[in-house]
Amino acid sequence: MAVREVALIGNPVLRKVGRILEPDEIGSVGIRALVDDMIDTMHELGGIGIAAPQVGESLQLAIVEIAEESDRYPDTTAFGLTVVVNPRITVLDHTEQAFWEGCLSVPDLRGVVHRPRKIRVDYTDLSNRPQSITVDDFVATVFQHELDHLQGALFVDKVRDPTTLSTVANYQRYWLDEPGQSREI
Ligand code: NI
Repeated sequence: MAVREVALIGNPVLRKVGRILEPDEIGSVGIRALVDDMIDTMHELGGIGIAAPQVGESLQLAIVEIAEESDRYPDTTAFGLTVVVNPRITVLDHTEQAFWEGCLSVPDLRGVVHRPRKIRVDYTDLSNRPQSITVDDFVATVFQHELDHLQGALFVDKVRDPTTLSTVANYQRYWLDEPGQSREI
């Protein structure tokens, strides 16, 4: 297990569509080691999700983990560590919600992103079993952000109003009382 270097915006790996994993790869030693590294990297950097392209591996593989409520993030909805392989999103409620987003691959930047408020994610787990989860509210935004990485998209592509783009310091200074929450997704 190891903390990996995170690819930053401008690195072409972040703009590629990740390769679908074959069934015989999913439980392999190599993929399990990659998942361990992704978890270590996410924890080290304080993220609540990470996608394989962010550690330089162009694969359909991502992780979400939102820690229990804390003083640091008092409004956080906890969501246990979930590893998704070859995921597909189905929008269940197209009503838009807006959250402040950040990204480990886009240092020191926040912006407001509008996304559908409820989705289903169908995916394969690390034991090669099909899984399906339904998520809404902030967790739905986190999954959509992570799974965008597998399609070569970044949150900055989806910021509707570029005047919301802020450094972290300016987010805290000028925008913190605005609706939504900011996270290093
Ligand atoms: Ni991200």
